[in-house]
Order: sequence, then structure tokens, then C-alpha cells
Amino acid sequence: MERKNGRKHGEVFTQLNVVKYILDEVEYVSSNNLKKIKILEPASGQGAFAIEIIKRLFQSSKKYDFDFIKAINENIRLVELDSLSFENLESNILKTIADLGFKPNKIQKSVFSNTDFLFKDFNFKFDCIVGNPPYIRHEIIDTKLKKEYKQMFSTFKYRADLYVLFYEKSLKLLSQNGLLSFICSNRWLFNQYGQPLRKLIAEKFHITKIINIEKANVFDEEVIAYPCITTIRNTKGNLTEYYESQEKVININNLNFEFIKSPKDESWQNLFLDYNINHSSLIAITEQSFEIGIGVATGADKVYIKKETELNGIERNRVIPIIKSNCLKGENINWDNSYVINPFQNGELCDLNDFPHLESYLESKKEILLKRHVAKKSPNSWYKTIDKIKPDLQNKYKLLLPDLSGCKFLFIDEGNYYPHHNIYYITHPELNELKILACILMSDFIKNQLSQIGIRMNGGLPRFQTQTLRKLRVPQLTKLSTSDRNKLIDSYEKRNLGNINKIVNKYCTQHRIKVMAKTVINPKSENKLEVIA
Ligand SMILES: C[S@@+](CC[C@H](N)C(=O)[O-])C[C@H]1O[C@@H](n2cnc3c(N)ncnc32)[C@H](O)[C@@H]1O
Repeated sequence: MERKNGRKHGEVFTQLNVVKYILDEVEYVSSNNLKKIKILEPASGQGAFAIEIIKRLFQSSKKYDFDFIKAINENIRLVELDSLSFENLESNILKTIADLGFKPNKIQKSVFSNTDFLFKDFNFKFDCIVGNPPYIRHEIIDTKLKKEYKQMFSTFKYRADLYVLFYEKSLKLLSQNGLLSFICSNRWLFNQYGQPLRKLIAEKFHITKIINIEKANVFDEEVIAYPCITTIRNTKGNLTEYYESQEKVININNLNFEFIKSPKDESWQNLFLDYNINHSSLIAITEQSFEIGIGVATGADKVYIKKETELNGIERNRVIPIIKSNCLKGENINWDNSYVINPFQNGELCDLNDFPHLESYLESKKEILLKRHVAKKSPNSWYKTIDKIKPDLQNKYKLLLPDLSGCKFLFIDEGNYYPHHNIYYITHPELNELKILACILMSDFIKNQLSQIGIRMNGGLPRFQTQTLRKLRVPQLTKLSTSDRNKLIDSYEKRNLGNINKIVNKYCTQHRIKVMAKTVINPKSENKLEVIA
């Protein structure tokens, strides 16, 4: 997650139309009596939200005849960590108040806090919490702070971005029935680090609205982000309004919201798919007699992986042809004559005395091999590879899935090679089953599923990893007609992606997989917001 203008504290300014929309979302509108409404902006920047809050409060004070300054002092809290932004925040707010005809020196210090929101205590809870929390990638967060945050926040798991903690802390500060609305990255809605936050929200709160505006530019400066407006109420509820757009220009006045069931656990992927991933005709790869694995990690590829010409007489039964991801380009497997040296025999580390050439080679590399963690852990087995090599794997039919291939085709090894660590593989005793599965994994249906469930793509091509492969739900191979199976096998051989998509889409139609399960409703008429790139 990077922003072109991402400064040290993840500062980005929000456009006024978005600010207004978000304040409407939390019902902080001047037509309401805001006299006692407590509102917090936890990452105020220079006051994009705060200025509008002050203006609305002023209008409301006129309408309902209450003490404007007293209401500010009692109910508005603005936090900003960055000192420079904080100075601007304070002066912008005081100027706004002066422009409205009031004495800024009547504003109490407690309204503003130049501090880390995540450590800040408040004397009361809030009816409304709004803002645009900072995006700060996990690896950029200070190590010491990370330790402290870990102790304080249950959602700070995996490689969570800082904004996740802003959600957790803010949710804890919401009064009963209070509303929170943030514009933020959408990544947490489906990725791994968002899991604990999704669970927290699903179990204890009600996510009332999600506006997923992936591409529209809603910040004042050009930013690279995946913005999303989420509104959450501190109550329980069953329906969520959902809107998604890939457009660069959207008019929020005119959004076609869909009503979807509010998620009840951490799995929110059905929000994003236009079909039900739990459909009975879609099942996991491993439920269909396929086995998934990853190739061998040696811990010292320079020592263990050698070209044919570099084997220097090492006993032939100690080497196996190895296939690496860079051999899987173009339309065919292009093996580069590399071999992996196998120090295992019958499932045990071999006795080097039985293989004098191997012994002298490994002895000459002993110093390098001893530096590996695996060798330090068991010095007597200093020449073992990190993963055990099981020669049988070479002879199996294997669908090879390079982690980062940059190639749109998948390849099947018909029993010639051992896969290297950067390759995931799927085995099955029947070659044709693997060809059919290869076709399905190359289809747009699966690409869509992967991208929708938040799997990173490599230049539009999927990245397959064990975890991803286990998550995927694919057509049930036994439900394919003989003619479609044959067509897929033929399409695999001819590399005919067009035909593959036709057959997979036909399966989806036949089994009513692509059924829209959501009810489209009319947009709220009062949303007068335009988001323009
Ligand atoms: C994305 S900007 C939003 C600024 C402003 N609210 C707006 O919408 O234009 C996030 C702000 O959070 C501030 N920030 C970063 N870490 C913070 C923290 N731990 N506590 C409070 N503010 C923080 C940054 O300095 C930055 O001003």
C-alpha cells in the first residue's frame, strides 16, 4: 500500500465532498440537534473533517439555540500526531471559529491533542467517529511501537497496517448505537491481516455500509490506494448496503446500492463475489483426490543445484533433474539441464561412505553448508537439504504452479522432474484429471475468484500458493460431461484459453453458479456527493 505523497505519518487530504458524505453517514447534520453529540476525529490532519464539523455544529446551534462554544469544548475531540499538521489544524479551526464571529480564545485545550491517538485516553465515549486514518505499512511502523501496539490491540496480527488499529481503538470508543465512518484502504475487507478486525466487527458491531471505490480518486492529491468508505454502528444488524465501482469517476448521488447479508464471521468474501463460493457444485481442489505440495528448499541452492556439466562425477543415483520457475515460460517446459543433489536414501540421510564422489564434493562445500540454520541445528546431518527429497515425486504426474511465473499457461510434468522451492505442484494419478484442473486454473473464472478474495496478482496473472490453492473453490470434475472433459483436455494441449473459458462458464451457467444473490435497492436520495478523479 503506497501513496505517492505518503509522508512520514501517512498524511493525505480528503476531498470536501467525501468529508460531507461521511459526516452525513454518521448523522452529524446541521438539521439535527448536535448540542450533545460527541464527535471524534482521531487523525485530523489539518482539519479537513474538523472544519466541516465546526460549521455544522454552528448551524445546528443557531437552529436549536444552544451555546456553540460550550458544545465545541464539551463534545469535539481532534487528535493529530504530526506537530506541523497539528499547528495548522489548530489555527484552521480557530480561524473558522473567528470567521463565524466567536472568540477563539474561549476554546479549551482539551479539544485538541497533539499525540498518538492509539495511546490516548478519553473521559467519555463518542456518538460519531469520522476520518481518514493513516495508512502506514507494517514494515514501516517503528519496531518498539509495534511491540506496544501488539499488547494493546487484538487486531494487530499478521502484517497489519496501522489503520487497522485506528478501527479497533475507535470502535472501542463508540457509544451504544454510535456511528463510525472512515474512508480508508479496502484491503482489510478481504486480506489476511484484516481477519481479526472483520471478526470483531461481525461479532460485536453492525457494518451498515460499504462503498468500495477501488479506482476513484477521492483525495486531494493523486494517490495510489484502494479507497473504501465503511460505516459501522455499535449495535447488531442483519443487512449491509454495498456498492462497488471500478470506475474512475463516480457520482455518489447516484449509487445503486445492493442489500447484502451482514457478515457474521471473519469471512467476508461473499460480499465481493457475484456467486456463492459455498455453492455445492464448487469444491476444493483437495476434495477431488488432488494433492498439493511445494518443491524442495535446500538452504544452499548454489551447492545443491548444478548444471549437468558441473556434476563432476557425482554418482548418478544421487542427482535428480530439477525444474525451476524460470523454466516455465512460453508455451512449453524449458528445462535448463539443472539437477538437484539428493543426500537422502530410503527416507534417511545417506551414508557418504557409500558415495565417494558425493562425499568429496560435499566435503569441499562443508564450510558453506554448516552456515545454514538446518546444519547448525543438527551438526551431524550437516549435508542434509532443508526439505527431505522424496525421489518418487519425480515420477509422478505434476501440475506445476510457479509462484511468480509471469506466464499465462500452466504446465504438467509427466514424471521427469523434481520441483524446486519456488514451484507449487498438484499431483493426481490420472494425467487427464490434471489437464482438466490445469484448464480450470487458467480460466477467467478462477482469476476472478482469486482477485476478488484478495489474492495478489502478478501483472494480471494469478500467484498460486498453497494457502491460495486450498482456498479456491473449483468446479467438481466428476460433474463435467464427457464431451466437456475431452474438450478441456484438447484445449490444454492446444493452449486454447478461449475454449477453456467457454466450457468453465458453461459449467457455471448449468449449475446456476453465477446467480446474483443480492437485492438491488434505490440509492438514498439525500446523497449529494460526487467523487471525481
Ligand atoms: C490520511 S491523513 C488524514 C488527514 C485528514 N484527516 C484528512 O482527511 O485530510 C492521516 C493523518 O493521521 C495522522 N497520524 C498518523 N499517525 C497518527 C497517530 N498515531 N495518531 C494520530 N494521528 C496520526 C497523520 O499525521 C495524518 O495527518
